Amino acid sequence: MPDKLIYDENTASVYEKFTTMVGKVAEADETAAFLERFSSGRNALELGIGNGRVAVPLSEYGVQVEGIDNSDSMLKLLANRTDQIKAWKGDIADFNSEQRYQLVYCVYGTFTLLFRREEQIACLRSAAEALDDEGVLVIEVPVPTLHGFLRGQRISAKLLDYENTLVNVELHDSLNQNLTSTSLWFSDKSLSRSSQRIRYVYHQELDTMAQCVGLELAERWEDWAKGAFTDVSKRHISVYRRTNL
Ligand SMILES: C[S@@+](CC[C@H](N)C(=O)[O-])C[C@H]1O[C@@H](n2cnc3c(N)ncnc32)[C@H](O)[C@@H]1O
Repeated sequence: MPDKLIYDENTASVYEKFTTMVGKVAEADETAAFLERFSSGRNALELGIGNGRVAVPLSEYGVQVEGIDNSDSMLKLLANRTDQIKAWKGDIADFNSEQRYQLVYCVYGTFTLLFRREEQIACLRSAAEALDDEGVLVIEVPVPTLHGFLRGQRISAKLLDYENTLVNVELHDSLNQNLTSTSLWFSDKSLSRSSQRIRYVYHQELDTMAQCVGLELAERWEDWAKGAFTDVSKRHISVYRRTNL
């Protein structure tokens, strides 16, 4: 496994189809509506902007959206879609922004793709520094699910619809809170394979890391419709603001 997994041409070529199939495209408008409330019609920075799934509908509210991504292939998808969004190549674990934003956001578990604790903290620190005094950071991350592992391995299969089956093979490194996975996606007669490594975080650890960089929790929800976050929630959307203003 390389030190950093960068979304390549293959991943980018199936991204739209995959995110449509798993319902992420369908929820993009709701995500943008949620985020718009915090951007006050001004500006926003997306960490790991990808193909603009969320950035494009957010910009349609009149918000000046900018973004960072480390994948040329994903940035190309965005550029093919719109020229209204300024996006640049960079690492969200290590960025400096002279611009200040009303909203900085990182969605769809992108934060966990930083698979070292130090990188996650560095990302939060850069995000905090990029915020306006009144600005907020919004992060969407899945709640870790560690059931079903046997000797550190788990294989799960999902029949997504009649044509699409997804098989996920995961290895758990509990010392580093890392899950390394390979997904095999059978779609009709084609097969795509992609790998990733994440560092899962529980919400309380995220709050502690945020506190270390001068952020405090303002709101937490289980979805973009503002459902209550509970012990059965599958993800959380956490909103942080700067402390000691
Ligand atoms: C799960 S996709 C999410 C894309 C988009 N935010 C969305 O919600 O559809 C993760 C994105 O983060 C980018 N990414 C992953 N690690 C990154 C890093 N260290 N720095 C910058 N971008 C990164 C990937 O290239 C990809 O576009």
